[in-house]
Amino acid sequence: MIIKTKELILKPDISKDDIFKIHQNVFNQTETAKYMLWEASNEIEDTIKRLKRWQESDIKLFFIFEKSNNEPIGFLSFSERDEVINNIGLCIGKRFVRKGFGKQVLTALLDYCKNNKIKIVEYSAFHENLPSIELAKKLGFIYSYSKNSIRNYDKRKFVEDVYVKKIDCFKNIN
Ligand SMILES: CC(C)(COP(=O)(O)OP(=O)(O)OC[C@H]1O[C@@H](n2cnc3c(N)ncnc32)[C@H](O)[C@@H]1OP(=O)(O)O)[C@@H](O)C(=O)NCCC(=O)NCCS
Repeated sequence: MIIKTKELILKPDISKDDIFKIHQNVFNQTETAKYMLWEASNEIEDTIKRLKRWQESDIKLFFIFEKSNNEPIGFLSFSERDEVINNIGLCIGKRFVRKGFGKQVLTALLDYCKNNKIKIVEYSAFHENLPSIELAKKLGFIYSYSKNSIRNYDKRKFVEDVYVKKIDCFKNIN
């Protein structure tokens, strides 16, 4: 499935050439990975292995491309089960933030929910991740609870804030 927004295209597949580009734009960027659960790496092999692992897992994964130049600038991943979406990973490379792209992607995900009978969307972020939390609040997510978590690869302890949005499945009917 391909998802289109005003300026972006979200696709589940990525070519070999674009893996090199997304490695440069996203996966080797320490700052971009600061509040993510994966570790940035300069090694392209690490990115290739990571993407293969994700593509073979149960998570839904979309690569985010800018429409104007086909540049791969980020990704969206999530789990979907029993009318609930959670474990959302939304990531835009640091050169591309604050252009309204995060908002377009999350809005597209909410539209996907309306069309796929999803009732609840859970969005969680490191407590310190202001851009992420502000984005969620902007799209109507409501703070639900916080929990103590530990990041696997570096054992960093962090507080994870969980925000929830109930989807009004009947909104599109008229
Ligand atoms: C969080 C993230 C997805 C936001 O994407 P983005 O494309 O920069 O967001 P947008 O430009 O669409 O901004 C939408 C809203 O988010 C909020 N926001 C975004 N960046 C912000 C910042 N640095 N400070 C405060 N609010 C911010 C604002 O409310 C903004 O609306 P505004 O532009 O009208 O003020 C992006 O910063 C990112 O990918 N960061 C690295 C990875 C990450 O931490 N992902 C989240 C994991 S849960």
